[in-house]
Parts: sequence; structure tokens; C-alpha cells
Amino acid sequence: MINLCDIQHDPEIAMLMVKVHEYLGTMGAITHDEEHAIYVARLSVHILKSLNYPEREQQLAEIAGYLHDIGNVVNRYQHGISGALLAFDLLKRLGMPPEEIAAVIAAIGNHEERSGYAVSNIAAAVILADKSNVHRSRVRKEDAATFTTRDRVNYAATTSFLVIDPDQREIVMHLEIDSAIVSVFDYFEIFLTKMLLCRRAANFLKCQFGLEINGTRFL
Ligand SMILES: [Fe+2]
Ligand SMILES: [Fe+2]
Repeated sequence: MINLCDIQHDPEIAMLMVKVHEYLGTMGAITHDEEHAIYVARLSVHILKSLNYPEREQQLAEIAGYLHDIGNVVNRYQHGISGALLAFDLLKRLGMPPEEIAAVIAAIGNHEERSGYAVSNIAAAVILADKSNVHRSRVRKEDAATFTTRDRVNYAATTSFLVIDPDQREIVMHLEIDSAIVSVFDYFEIFLTKMLLCRRAANFLKCQFGLEINGTRFL
């Protein structure tokens, strides 16, 4: 069975992942590096494990989480779709069975807020894990005058984590936002579509989605 270790030790995949971060750097986009890939991989597993989904599903979510942004090597626009198509070839070469390839590429192809849909447990986990990785450390621009609103919201976030409660069937995103940098209102303006996608993902996993910002519960 193919696992994350096989993926990480594949030189072709490793090179594509390095280039994703390098090319996105030229446009000053927030980090899409190994750290983001591992964060999403680990959190996707944690979500499915906490909710008692089968172990192989957890492992496939780990792979999808790790590879979810690989399409940025082609173009940032529709990188979910291009990433899914790239992953199809890469996973086929590694000998992954078609049913598992389908599960992984569906999750990669559905993680973007414009076109994403929680089509499976794996896709739902990757959406929740990816969208919760909002943090100051991901902003690469050094001059605050060049920040986009998205940069500012990321820069304002000093803590972000998910709490999964399997008994209450609840997934709550906790954020600490420096309101001197961005107001909670600005946060909502930028992240509303992400939060709606997260809510649908949580619902797919038969959970309620909650959002707590600076100790106040909003959803
Ligand atoms: Fe992405
Ligand atoms: Fe991502």
C-alpha cells in the first residue's frame, strides 16, 4: 500500500513541491511549502481519526492533504484541478489502485473555495485542514504596504486551530486575530466563502461547524 512516506521520498514529487513554493513566491503569495503540506496532511488524518473513520481513509486523506496544492506548479488559477490531474499520473506510476487514486484526486480537485465541494470524507477533511491553516507565519511579503487583504488577514492571525468533538459531533475553528491589524468584520469579508465551505465539509462528516474568534463564538 502506498503511504505518505513513499510520496515524500519520490524525487519527482519532491521537485514539483519545491517549485510550487518557488513560483508562488514570485507573486508574493502566502507560503505553500512543505510545512503547509505537512500541516494539512496531519490535520486531515487527525480529523478522520477523531471521528473514527477507517484507517485507510485516514492514510489517503494524509496523501491528499500533502499533495493538495501541487497544481500551483502549473498555475495558481484552478490549481485544484491541475493538481488532481498531476496526482493521477504520479500515483498511477507508484502503483496505487484506481479506487484509491480516485479518492485522492477527488479531494485535491475539490479543495478550492470557488469550485470545491465535500464529495467524500477525505475531501471534507482536506478542506477543513487547509482552510484552518491561517497564520502570520505564512505571509511572505515584508512590506506591509504591499499586503493584500488576504495577506492582512493571515498576518493578523496569531493562533488558529481546530477542535474536534466526536461526542457532540462538532468541529470548531478557533482563531486569535490581532484586531489592531484587521477587524473581525474584515476577517468575515475575506473568509466567508472559506467558512461556508468548511461548514459544508463538517456537515458531510455529520458534524456541526463552529467558529470562535478571540473567544467569541460566531457560528
Ligand atoms: Fe490550494
Ligand atoms: Fe493549501
